[in-house]
Amino acid sequence: MTKSTITIDTHIEPAAAADSIKLEVVRALTSTPKALTPKWLYDDRGSELFDEITRLKEYYPTEAERSILDEHAEAIAEISGADTVVELGSGTSDKTRTLLDAFWKQGQLQSFVPFDVSEATLIDAADMLAARYEGLDVHAVVGDFNHHLPTLPTLGRRMVAFLGSTIGNFHVEERRAFLGALADTLRPDEWLLLGTDLVKDVGRIVSAYNDDSGITEAFTLNVLDVLNREFDGNLPVDQFDFVPLWDPTEERMDLRLRAAMPFVARFEALDLDVNFGEGEELRVEVSTKFRPDRIRAELLDAGFEVEQLWTAPGPSAGDPDDFGLILARRI
Ligand code: SAH
Ligand code: AVI
Repeated sequence: MTKSTITIDTHIEPAAAADSIKLEVVRALTSTPKALTPKWLYDDRGSELFDEITRLKEYYPTEAERSILDEHAEAIAEISGADTVVELGSGTSDKTRTLLDAFWKQGQLQSFVPFDVSEATLIDAADMLAARYEGLDVHAVVGDFNHHLPTLPTLGRRMVAFLGSTIGNFHVEERRAFLGALADTLRPDEWLLLGTDLVKDVGRIVSAYNDDSGITEAFTLNVLDVLNREFDGNLPVDQFDFVPLWDPTEERMDLRLRAAMPFVARFEALDLDVNFGEGEELRVEVSTKFRPDRIRAELLDAGFEVEQLWTAPGPSAGDPDDFGLILARRI
């Protein structure tokens, strides 16, 4: 029997050693308003907390997307004809097994390329999948999908899966840049499989990000520990309140941390003092909810034509659909 192989490419340097990363964080902490990119949420602890979030009763996107994958994975394998599945922001690749099972059953899967900023989670997932599919070439990439898409391996005929509605964590202009860079990376007739959380009842969305057990709050606050550890800082974690806001204009959740009192935080590794005023907020993440026509138009602008849009229905008859999974072809 052929053994699976695992290769790992690493494009991420330790944060405090890389000038470009330091500059990015200095800008984030000194801009008005202060705003981080969500990748800082996913150290080992943050990745574990996210995994817990996916099992919360309030957090509907994971099960909604899984139900679509369960029903349509075979069609995705057939329509795409891909032999290489790339997964961006792959995390534990838990739902992805459903997808890969369908490709494997049809005898068409040669390579799997999980791509994530969180190295430990990525390596666990790579080991799990190499054991599950004997003879699979697992080519893991530790990278930042805002910077390192051009480094994606050019193996075979690719389908890039970007699941979980992680695309919603970009701001509008970042989303445009990301889709453009992805289109530049792919050849015509390669594929994008995109998970998108849809606009729905605001109460349901807000509870998904403000769960009763406080896991989302802990996930968000953890970013302060990450900054303190990576950049030798002294942010007073217990002086921040979690503020999960719905922004009706942008149709997105806006997760912030608010300073309960004024203070100056010192980051030795950045040689930086950061002033927080009383009530000043640090934006940690946005989570945009989509309307199918709008995302379809954005994809077309970037060079992707939607071939299929599958949806998971809302909780009751007459409710809008919960979640959309789009299969789009690079034109
Ligand atoms: N795809 C999984 C995980 C989503 S959580 C799911 O659908 O459940 C978001 C994932 O994206 C995390 O694993 C996180 O580490 C990764 N991520 C966040 N920002 C990233 C970035 N800039 N580059 C690469 N991966 C990133
Ligand atoms: C990864 N991403 C799609 C999640 C979301 O729903 O925006 C991250 C998250 N943040 C808080 N809860 C979940």
